[in-house]
Amino acid sequence: MTIYLNGSFMPIEEARVSVLDRGFIFGDGVYEVIPVYSRRPFRLAEHLQRLQHSLDGIKLKNPHSENKWADVLYELIARNEPDDQYIYLHITRGVAKRDHAFPNPPVPPTVFALSNPLTTPPAELLQSGIACITVADNRWLRCDIKSIALLPNVLLRQAAVEAGCAEAILIRDDAFLTEGAASNIFVVKNGKLLAPPKDNLMLPGITYDVILELAAANSIPYEVRRITKTEVFGADELLLTSSTKEVLAVTTLDGKPVGNGRPGAMFARLHPLYQAFKR
Ligand code: PDD
Repeated sequence: MTIYLNGSFMPIEEARVSVLDRGFIFGDGVYEVIPVYSRRPFRLAEHLQRLQHSLDGIKLKNPHSENKWADVLYELIARNEPDDQYIYLHITRGVAKRDHAFPNPPVPPTVFALSNPLTTPPAELLQSGIACITVADNRWLRCDIKSIALLPNVLLRQAAVEAGCAEAILIRDDAFLTEGAASNIFVVKNGKLLAPPKDNLMLPGITYDVILELAAANSIPYEVRRITKTEVFGADELLLTSSTKEVLAVTTLDGKPVGNGRPGAMFARLHPLYQAFKR
């Protein structure tokens, strides 16, 4: 596997980062995950815009222009197999003596990208849907930043796995839905798709945007607004989206069936639309 690190391409075995890197010490960095279909990064401009938003959020200068990023990522894709991949891109504030405040003067950021084979959910999972648990959203108040400091998300996802589930659905203040530990969540009620608002309490998902665009283009009724915990439990369907999972039906929540316990009509409409759109 060939990776990109600080301006060079190299085998992953040769890649080295200092133990003083602020990503390692403080989790002081941001990341992106970009799906690649048939060797083309999907929604690259949108991913790069969100990267810029994350960098602005942590006051870190973007090391590359949009064109330079495109060059780097296309070369990374060309140097790896297979045709469908996903890029993990990671930027930290660089290497400096440990001190919470930013290094002054600034040091060069650490810029890292790798590409893995993309395995989208298998047919069985599309047919069965997935099981989720609900958990209290105990993360910070800047969940719109795609921070590499993911310990809360790690613990929340692990709680799901220990409950035999695929994902944790996060409820803020015991009152309303935010998102999943590493995904966005939609509720379906009476034929309408409901989406939580893109605010500081959730990551503005690229897949989330595609789903809402597909709904608009196909006359599927939808509404973006706060969704209560009660509405989550009373949903006809729950949908999960992310760059690597695409669209999945959540068919079990906290051990109980969602709707009739099988992927529903909204999933049956949106999944093929997404498949057609991504190519
Ligand atoms: N995670 N919310 C959170 C907290 C996420 O980590 C992700 C994606 C999403 C979905 O965003 P998008 O549709 O842009 O992938 C929502 C990636 C896949 C990850 O951390 O691996």
